[in-house]
Amino acid sequence: MILTAHRVELASHLETAKGRGLLVGLVPTMGFLHEGHLSLVDLAKERSDYVAVSVFVNPLQFGPDEDLDRYPRDLERDLSLLRDRGADLVFSPALGEMYPAGSPQITVDPGPLAKKLCGAYRPGHFGGVLTVVARLFGLVRPKTAVFGQKDYQQAALIRRMVRDLEMGVEILLGPIVRESDGLAMSSRNVLLSEEERSDAVGLSAGLTRVQAAFQSGVRDPAGLRKILAEELSRYPLLDLQYGEVVDPETLEQVGEAYPGCVVALAAHCGRTRLIDNHILTS
Ligand code: PAF
Repeated sequence: MILTAHRVELASHLETAKGRGLLVGLVPTMGFLHEGHLSLVDLAKERSDYVAVSVFVNPLQFGPDEDLDRYPRDLERDLSLLRDRGADLVFSPALGEMYPAGSPQITVDPGPLAKKLCGAYRPGHFGGVLTVVARLFGLVRPKTAVFGQKDYQQAALIRRMVRDLEMGVEILLGPIVRESDGLAMSSRNVLLSEEERSDAVGLSAGLTRVQAAFQSGVRDPAGLRKILAEELSRYPLLDLQYGEVVDPETLEQVGEAYPGCVVALAAHCGRTRLIDNHILTS
């Protein structure tokens, strides 16, 4: 597995791979990898010939009061996991290599989709995400790129960016990978105390209850939101920020829930903000 921190070196490795006719798949990450990320590498391996993984904690997507400084990092561990999983190349640039001219002057405006769900509470976040993803697409020029369903809104925005700006990258969505008790895997889970970790399970418990209610015939989004909030209120360390039932593409709240709708939520668990979602099935 090749490790590079430099754009020029990255370009030369990719040119060699593409010259050999290999289709490049990209898995963008912020590191501190877990099984969720590694399952995205598996998917990239299935759908491309040469898998590049980026590891870069992108300051542009963190607000001033967010957890950029606390965000966990361990490149050595990430490299060993990626090597074992069969990634071909890891691009792990320093800040000045990713943004050589300092903060970029031209950034991606994520538009109205970014005002909903998490975007309503994290102004600037999705602009930062799309700007770094656009930059990674420009550096790697992948055939496919893989993102996790756990960040559902992020994936919806990336799909929309690729479509609206004709970027020509196929976007694949990998399913949410959960711990044995249901908690969605996230690099941020390591920031939870023991008590917070045990209450964090309330997020997936809430989604499971909503799915059960939907299956037994509840279609009214207000009713489903109430069930979600009730379930989360059983976990004292969880503070629900939002829980919505939305259209999978527009992320607009639906008038009536249907199979394929997304139930998305965010909650604080102590100082750590967690997100989760579930696509309703009949
Ligand atoms: O999902 C993430 O880890 C990040 O938002 C991404 C897509 C790597 C951009 O920094």
